[in-house]
Amino acid sequence: MTVPDLASVLSDVRGRRVFVRADLNVPLDEGQVGDDTRIRAALPTLRKLLAAGGRVVLASHLGRPKGQVVAGLSLAPVAERLEALLGRPVRFCPHVAGTQAEAAAAALGDGEIVLLENLRFEPGETANDDALATQLAALADVYVNDAFGTAHRAHASTAGMVPHVKRAAAGELLMAELQHLECVREPERPLLCLLGGAKVSDKLSVLEALAPHADVLAIGGAMAYTFLLAKGEPTGRSLVEPDRVDEARAVLDAAERAGRRVLLPQDHRVAAEVAEGAAVSEVTTIPEDQMGIDIGPRTAEAYAACAREARTIFWNGPMGVFEIDAFAGGTEAVAQAVADSAGRSVVGGGDSVAAINRLGLGDRIGHLSTGGGASLEYVQGLTLPGVAALES
Ligand code: 3PG
Repeated sequence: MTVPDLASVLSDVRGRRVFVRADLNVPLDEGQVGDDTRIRAALPTLRKLLAAGGRVVLASHLGRPKGQVVAGLSLAPVAERLEALLGRPVRFCPHVAGTQAEAAAAALGDGEIVLLENLRFEPGETANDDALATQLAALADVYVNDAFGTAHRAHASTAGMVPHVKRAAAGELLMAELQHLECVREPERPLLCLLGGAKVSDKLSVLEALAPHADVLAIGGAMAYTFLLAKGEPTGRSLVEPDRVDEARAVLDAAERAGRRVLLPQDHRVAAEVAEGAAVSEVTTIPEDQMGIDIGPRTAEAYAACAREARTIFWNGPMGVFEIDAFAGGTEAVAQAVADSAGRSVVGGGDSVAAINRLGLGDRIGHLSTGGGASLEYVQGLTLPGVAALES
């Protein structure tokens, strides 16, 4: 890996303005920060830069405002939470670029920090517009990208501005994420990949990449029913994508050709509808009038047995509709199995990480990734534009 790390710029940041691109895209609940995991994850880099006397211009996106100013997607509540976590004042600049942002950056003293407004309020951010990239680069002398969760986006703040700055480096979080995920790309075997989620179509490229790579690919969530359909098994009223059956079959074939195993659910928690209080049964064959909503206990045990054998585990996506207690058993059993494994484990994706945290198992996982889409792209061997920009 040829990405310059934070240490490469740290000795020379005193008195300099450092533009830090973080991923502070956190859930807001009635205008307040809900889960602050991503803000906490940004702290190590910020603390080091501030302690070294850097003048930090911090920037992030929040949600998808599509180039419009959306009041409910302001980063102002994030500035407040960051201030509490950092234990020092965090100024908030209600502008992304231009003269007011320049004035806010120029007003910083050594060891001070300002958070800019939501980058995506500017249409040029997601368009990777060079004019915006140039304006952002003008705010600072040094560029640090710590936004792993957004590293798979080629946006003005993640990629476009890098050629316009004199020095650029990866932050501590970005570096740690790459190192942990590298262990999935070049794994100690056996490698178990657990993939869940609703749709095959959302995860097709990662399924195609991991089926011949993982020693065992264990599939859960509603997307497993499209695979069962591809094998000609009954799926009742489960959520299936008939137009993806050929692709699902191709994934199974690719694994077989490579001598790898793909595990599909062998039993299921079913109900007539996905609802709190629905009558739930555990079955091995999904009845015509029922839908599969969670993997069953035998499946969970089979997946847990693989986790016990694995030297490396990558998990992304819930095994069922875990937000409803009656359908949380599969996801919770898998979370427990990953935590119990002596192998190296990496968990990515908001839902899987939420399940781990709900069970208080965070400390027993090798690495909880802050990037859902980014971690999926990285483990399938794709180049992340945010990382490539730093390499060049
Ligand atoms: C995420 O939450 O996955 C990242 O912040 C990226 O957000 P995006 O999918 O809106 O680009």
